[in-house]
Amino acid sequence: MRRRVLLLPAGLLFAACAEAGVGRQGLDVNRLPADVRPDYQLFSQRCSKCHPLSRALNSGIDRDAAWIDYVARMRRQPGSGISPDDATRILRFLHYYALEQQRLKREREPGAAPTPVSIR
Ligand code: HEC
Repeated sequence: MRRRVLLLPAGLLFAACAEAGVGRQGLDVNRLPADVRPDYQLFSQRCSKCHPLSRALNSGIDRDAAWIDYVARMRRQPGSGISPDDATRILRFLHYYALEQQRLKREREPGAAPTPVSIR
């Protein structure tokens, strides 16, 4: 009984570490697949203008449909500097990132139901 009570905080701490997320600087570009890097670089320029990049990367969003809505909303912000063409490329990176997030989530919680993947 006593042991179970002691184990709980350790488990929570581990979960908190696993979900600590990305720092303000964003991802290490060298660890991304080469074909994803140019889209990531555009994303990191355009999406760090008004808030740190980590706001997007740590948002927990892992669905294409949600990203499509968010990027459209961000693009409409006054002075966003995001063109329709930029949005397409940024969404291509965010699609890659969403799949990565889902993969990491499956590794953390092997029993969790898979997030349905939408096709764009
Ligand atoms: C012109 C300024 C501006 C730019 C550029 C911008 N954002 Fe934002 N972003 C905001 C503001 C303001 C908010 C908070 C208000 C809101 O949620 O609409 C926000 C909020 C967010 C949120 C919500 C976070 C949360 O905690 O709910 C996400 C996700 C996000 N931005 C992603 C992006 C992405 C991805 C890009 C690049 C495509 C981007 N932003 C570019 C201004 C901007």
